[in-house]
Amino acid sequence: MENVSVSSAPKQSTRKEAPPQEKITLIINGSEQQIEVANWTSLLDLLREHLHLTGTKKGCDHGQCGACTILLDGKRINSCLSLAVMHDGAEITTIEGLANGDELHPVQQAFIEQDAFQCGYCTPGQICSAVGLLNEGKAKTDDDIRDLMSGNICRCGAYTNIFKVVKEAVDKNKSR
Ligand code: FES
Ligand code: FES
Repeated sequence: MENVSVSSAPKQSTRKEAPPQEKITLIINGSEQQIEVANWTSLLDLLREHLHLTGTKKGCDHGQCGACTILLDGKRINSCLSLAVMHDGAEITTIEGLANGDELHPVQQAFIEQDAFQCGYCTPGQICSAVGLLNEGKAKTDDDIRDLMSGNICRCGAYTNIFKVVKEAVDKNKSR
């Protein structure tokens, strides 16, 4: 009888590889930070989980609710959809960085004065989005405002007062 030798499959290493890390520099709310981060980390997770800036909220984690809106080099983005390692050298502003010391950003102040929130979960994203909209300077009409804020969902339905705040800010910008 012929002997058949069956070679055993190569043993799989049980050692876990450390996730690849990349070094990046970000200017976050005015302060330069050197960060080592796994290359699949979203900007949102970097802010919340690594830097403990939890003002930026995670709603859907899929680019559908706007709760994670931040300003990247002055432009609003959904931070859940962008990898941190793609933005080496960028300037990031989160809701924590909008105020000037004890003085709230005018849009933050207006949200309070107009009572433009209920549970507040969407509010940091709404405010960052409104600031981004003002930077863009594209909103000329009420419909533009509604359209350009449509990426920010409010489950509490506080849209009427959110719209008032943004309209007031746009009108102020126009008159400057
Ligand atoms: S958490 Fe980013 S869009 Fe919803
Ligand atoms: S205030 Fe509750 S989700 Fe907008």
